[in-house]
Amino acid sequence: MQIFKEKQPLIDTLLSYKSAGEIVGLVPTMGALHDGHLSLVQQALQECDRVVVSIFVNPTQFDNPKDLEMYPRTLDQDIELLKQAQDDIIVFAPNANELYGKKVASEHFDFQGLEKVMEGKYRNAHFDGVGTVIKLFFTIIKPDKAFFGEKDFQQLQIIRKLTEILELPVEIVGCPILREESGLARSSRNERLSSLHREKAAFIYETLIKSKQLFGTKSADYVTEWVKNEFQNYPFLKLEYFEIADIQNLKRVNRKREGAQYRAFIAAYADDIRLIDNMPLNN
Ligand code: PAF
Repeated sequence: MQIFKEKQPLIDTLLSYKSAGEIVGLVPTMGALHDGHLSLVQQALQECDRVVVSIFVNPTQFDNPKDLEMYPRTLDQDIELLKQAQDDIIVFAPNANELYGKKVASEHFDFQGLEKVMEGKYRNAHFDGVGTVIKLFFTIIKPDKAFFGEKDFQQLQIIRKLTEILELPVEIVGCPILREESGLARSSRNERLSSLHREKAAFIYETLIKSKQLFGTKSADYVTEWVKNEFQNYPFLKLEYFEIADIQNLKRVNRKREGAQYRAFIAAYADDIRLIDNMPLNN
């Protein structure tokens, strides 16, 4: 396994692979790797000749300093897990100054409204931070393909928009959500849940499934009210938002349109731990 903490040696190494015609894939992560990340890595290994996994807790995408401070940092364990997956994975784990230079700050992007809804409404400037760090990774690594989980579906669509705006020749691959046995979407944050909350958080998935069934015959407004009511009667979680949106523009649906693709999106708190999930509503 090759581990790079500095960008120039990584750039030089990748250049030699690329000039030999190899396809380079990137799996960007913030570490604390779990099966969800490993499924992205597996998909990248299947589709690419070389796979770079970046491990970097990106400070500019956190609007809450406590959340940044509490974010798990488990580099040695992450490297072990990746070694077990495949010994020739390339790890890029820079520090903030190596990646950003002296000024660790976000660039501002216009993602044409995708950044204003849902996560963007509740997490100030979050997507400017994500856009900035992904632009840096794409500029340094110049991957042919980059792999992102559909669990952060809004992020996935924003990164697609980023590559369109910057005209970057990278294919963005969305990978399906991996779930715990209970249905709870895999996330590094799940490790911070009490065992009670971890069990009770499966309610998010159960509610998404029922919303999908209801959306077959009812309006988006009806389903949204139904979900709010369900959460009001459920003492273990606090709903932040539930929205049914068109996957292209992420705008909330008023009237269903023939041929459009919809998803339901949820954010909820279990204690002080924020969980998100989503589900396609078309079959
Ligand atoms: O999804 C994440 O873990 C992060 O937002 C990402 C894409 C690695 C950027 O820091």
